[in-house]
Formats: sequence, C-alpha cells, structure tokens
Amino acid sequence: MTEHRFPDARFRTSLLEENDGPATNPTDNRTMGEIIAARFSRRGFLRGSLAVSAIAATVSPLALISADEARATEASAFAFDELEAGIDDKHHVAPGYDADVLLRWGDPLFADSPEFDPTKQSAQAQAKQFGYNNDYVGYLPIDGSAEHGLLVVNHEYTNPHLMFPGIVKIVEKDGKKSAEVAPLSKEQVDVEMAAHGGTIVEIRKDGGKWQVVRDGKLNRRITSNTEMALSGPVAGHDRVKTNADPSGTKVLGTVNNCAGGVTPWGTYVMAEENIHGYFSGELPEGHKEAANYKRLGIPEGAYEWAAHYDRFDLAKEPNEANRFGWIVEVDVNDPTSTPRKRTAMGRFKHEGAESIVAKDGRVVFYLGDDERFDYVYKFVTKAAFNPNDLAANKDLLDDGTLHVAKFAEDGTVEWLPIVFGQGPLTTENGFASQADVLIETRRAADLLGATKMDRPEDIQPNAVNGKVYVMLTNNSKRKADQIDAANPRAENAFGHIIEISEDGGDFAAAKGKWEVLLKCGDPSVADVGATFSTATTANGWFGMPDNCAVDSTGRLWVATDGQGPKATGRTDGLWAVDTEGPARATSKLFFRVPIGAEMCGPLFAPDDQTAFVAVQHPGDGGDDWEAFGRPSYYEDLSTRWPDFKPDMPVRPAVVAITKQGGGKIAV
Ligand code: FEO
Ligand code: CA
Ligand code: CA
Repeated sequence: MTEHRFPDARFRTSLLEENDGPATNPTDNRTMGEIIAARFSRRGFLRGSLAVSAIAATVSPLALISADEARATEASAFAFDELEAGIDDKHHVAPGYDADVLLRWGDPLFADSPEFDPTKQSAQAQAKQFGYNNDYVGYLPIDGSAEHGLLVVNHEYTNPHLMFPGIVKIVEKDGKKSAEVAPLSKEQVDVEMAAHGGTIVEIRKDGGKWQVVRDGKLNRRITSNTEMALSGPVAGHDRVKTNADPSGTKVLGTVNNCAGGVTPWGTYVMAEENIHGYFSGELPEGHKEAANYKRLGIPEGAYEWAAHYDRFDLAKEPNEANRFGWIVEVDVNDPTSTPRKRTAMGRFKHEGAESIVAKDGRVVFYLGDDERFDYVYKFVTKAAFNPNDLAANKDLLDDGTLHVAKFAEDGTVEWLPIVFGQGPLTTENGFASQADVLIETRRAADLLGATKMDRPEDIQPNAVNGKVYVMLTNNSKRKADQIDAANPRAENAFGHIIEISEDGGDFAAAKGKWEVLLKCGDPSVADVGATFSTATTANGWFGMPDNCAVDSTGRLWVATDGQGPKATGRTDGLWAVDTEGPARATSKLFFRVPIGAEMCGPLFAPDDQTAFVAVQHPGDGGDDWEAFGRPSYYEDLSTRWPDFKPDMPVRPAVVAITKQGGGKIAV
C-alpha cells in the first residue's frame, strides 16, 4: 500500500512489495459474479439478528453494543493493556513489556566478524554480519530449550538509498527538487548480494534477556552467492541449464526471501518472492520463455546486478530466472550443507511456507503467491513424517502434490492438484512433464480455474483449533465487477483475513470450508466496510495484514505492512486477534514500529515468554521521515544536519519482546 514518492525504481522498497507489477495474471478466472455473500462473519450475522429482536423489545441498540463489548472483553484470550496507535520514529510495546533490539543490520555474527561501519562496507564484511531487511524469523530449539536455540532470519531485499552514505543526490530540475540514486558500484552490488539471503545464529536467554552467541558453531550466513542445489522434478531439466551450470542442478544463491518456515524435522525453509526485480535485459527474439517470464513480471530491473553479473541479464543467460522463485530448504545442523531449492513446491512469488503434520503423518505446507489476483497453494508431501528419525525426512520435500485453492461462494474451498497429465495440464497446453508444470506453476493454476486473490501473504495453520489463517494484504486494482465471496471488496485497500477449516479437521484434505474472519481498515468509516468486533478500540484496528503467527495456545497475532500517515494514520505493528467465542474478530495493538518500517516476524518462543518481531526498512517511505530529523534516504546529510552521524539511519532489526518480571506474553 505504501505510496512511493520517487519514480526511480532503485528506491526499491515498497515498489516491489506493492507487487503492482505488470498485471501478470491474464486469465478471467472468477468464481462468481456480483454476489457478495452476507456471510463475512457469522458473528456479525448473529449480532444482526439479536439487534432486531432487541429493538422489538425497545432496548437501546447502544446499550446492546456496550453489552456486546463487555462480553467480548471478558472473553478475550489476550490480557494486556493495549498500546496506543500512532506515528513516530521509535518502536513501542504495550505497557509492562520490554522490547529489546537483539540483532540489527551489520551486527557481527561470528567471532571474527568486523564491527559494523556503514562508511566501510564490503561484501566480505557483510557476509559475516547480520543481513538487511529481516523478514521471516524462526526458532529451532537446542536440546528442546525455549531459552537456547537457533534463530533463523530471512533477509529479503536491500534499500541502497538507506544503506550507502552519499548515494542519494538532490537534483533540481525546472524548479523542482527530487532525489536521485547514483548508479551502484560493483562493490555496492556485492554488498547488496551479501546482505540478501538468511542468517542462522545461536541465541541464548541469560537473566531474562536474549544474547547472540557469536561463536556458535552452527552460525551461518546464506547469501545471493551461496551454492545451492536444485532438487525435485525440475532438477537437471533443460529449462534450468545455463552456461555456468550445464547440469541444471547448481544455482548460486537465493533472493528476496520473504516469509518462510521451519519444518517438523528441524530445517529452515526460505520463500523466494519478488524475483523479477533482479533480472534485466531482453530475451533473444522469439525465446520460448517469453510468456513464462511475462506471467511473473520478469524482467523488472530494479536491481543493477546484471550490469556486473551476466547471469541476471536475460540476453546472456535466458534460463537463469527459471532457477529462482522456489522454496529453499536449509539443514541448519550442518553449516557446510548445500541448501536445496525444492522444486516440487512450485515456482511463483512465494511469500511463506508454514507447515503442519496432517492426521496421517504427511506434512502440509501452506503457500501464498503474493501478487494481485494470484493464488493460495498447499503442498502435501507424499511420504509421512518420521518423528523418530529426523534424518529420514531429509528429502520429504522432493515428492508430493502441490494444490491450488478454488474458493466457492457457498463457503467451500477445493484444493485442485497441479499434476502433469491431469485435467488441462497436458501437452496440448504446452506442458511436456511435471517439470514444465512446476516451472510455470502460475499458468497451470490459471488453467485449473483457481480463485484470484487479493495478494496472498503469510498463511498459518493453527494446530490448536485446527484452522488455517490466510492473510490477504490488499488489492486496490480489484474492480467492482471482479469481486467474489472470498475477495469481497472492490479497491480493497486494507485487505482481509480468511479462515479455512479443512474437511474432517484433516489438513491434507482435498476440500474445506472457509469464511472471512476479518475485513480490515477503520471500522468507524462506513464506506471501508471493516468487520472488527465492536469491542475493538480506535487503537485496535489495522489494515494490510501480512505476516502472522500462532502462539502455543493457538492465539492469532497479525503483523502489518503498508500503514502510515496517509493510509491509516498509524504505523505498522503487531496486533493480537481473537478468533474464538464472543470476542471473535476483536483486535488489540501490542507493538508498533518506527515510521517507514513494516512489521515482520512475528514468532513466539516455544514457552510463549518471548515474541520475536522483525522491523523491516525503518525510515523508508519518501519524505515522511524528515519530521524526525532526517529524510528517508541516505544523502550525505552533514551540511544540513551538523550532528549527522553515518550510522544515523535506523537499521532493520529483530526485537525480542518479553514481559517485565518474566512470564508468558499477554496471559
Ligand atoms: Fe515480501 Fe509479500 O511480502
Ligand atoms: Ca510479507
Ligand atoms: Ca509485504
């Protein structure tokens, strides 16, 4: 949602997040015409009925709302004093909690890492330091501990205008001032490549506070140059062979790792999302990948990597882009292990990969494709998870069935298998194998008639209540004649959350039921059509749900991306959302980020005594930052702000939230 003031694509912040791309879904798949089912919220329906009978009994509707609020407040699963929504240059947490920075961009991760110095950046230094723009945060316990484990963090993308001192110049043309980013040097591109990827780092809680264990023997940085293997049905296919890798099995690095997951067998999975920005140049005339790339908006060219590395230039390496857009699995127990791109899980703009073990032991991964009008997927492994021999699960992700969701207006959802030879996925439609189907997952899903969604972000299965929560962040391009029951608002600026109940409580089921848990936005503005409960305060509503988490008691927490002064009058943050009983659809603000940032993570330690949150791109967002002492770019500010220091930009950071005096969060 964040509007970007600068037309220069190299201010690549929310430009890519916006996924405003080239309207890459060409199909007219719609499940329905104009019916907006009056079933957005069962609770809303019940309240409506109650109000009618109450009015007949001459009770004031206002009194009814108060009674309703009281019931909701009593029934809420969350006990904390709500934080006040607002906008400033700091992060804030609810009263009674501490929010301590654990790791910032540039922080040393190894005993021999250099200290961060923004004036002396190098790829070599960055590869030993915490990367940029932290998004997914996962925790893998060491010896089952909730206070000692490995933190795994994705570094989604880089913002050179916030990273490199002096790279922004203010130019004046026709009496108008504008900011321009200078071309990056090769050294700066190398820093960017090293700042991408992921971090695996040992952390320990000492005296109630988390510390980084710098000499942890499993500490590792994964970057855009780490050697990876392509595995599964696409490995070795002609369409992934390049000059540098005639085997079609070895890829250098990963990019744009947004959300992700950890598996039941203790590995770390990273989702490659907005891959289109890294590629430039033109395919040779009439090249067979042209339609495939167009569907993904490739090339978008926001990064300058192709100027220094041929593999990002489509004219020179036309197949390289087929080697990105996958789910990457990392064995964290061996820092020398080769991460594997698990091609069976499909190729698209992967948002996340949260998983759960189904009744029969197969493992189900929920996968969002974050683009306007793209799809919700789930992957079901062929084999069952072996809890007694974790190593036996090491290639579980190479074999299974990817499905795409078709949401019907009667409140059912069907998971359509994406399998070569089934339905329209045949040679007549240009697929010669399952590898072809997976390389062009989006086109396969188009042909199957999947439901075009309002930007599917994180999707979280909930082991406690057996449901699945789908964050749909927004879609301002949906027109009134394109609404359907699962995407019920035209120009959906604030997004919504869908709750799925799989048939028989079986996450591997082929069908389920769904309803809209929440339509987001300011509920006091009737035109917005938000459906928070009436117990939700003026601080408690939010827009643009993105990442989310479920704590060990099954409570839902939602992080947002894209709020701000213009969109919602509040910064992004972390909201606690009731899903059960009379309090259902009540939301409360727990934490908020500095202006310009989006809220990522979130993650609860296994004992629920820590909430880890990731503050991504603080200080970004046009000139919004100026009121707080600096603009939102890394101009050389020493002449305008004499006390300017090179490290002045607030840095993306992982923050650990704990209760003062100890104890579980929000209980
Ligand atoms: Fe990287 Fe869809 O957020
Ligand atoms: Ca996201
Ligand atoms: Ca986002």
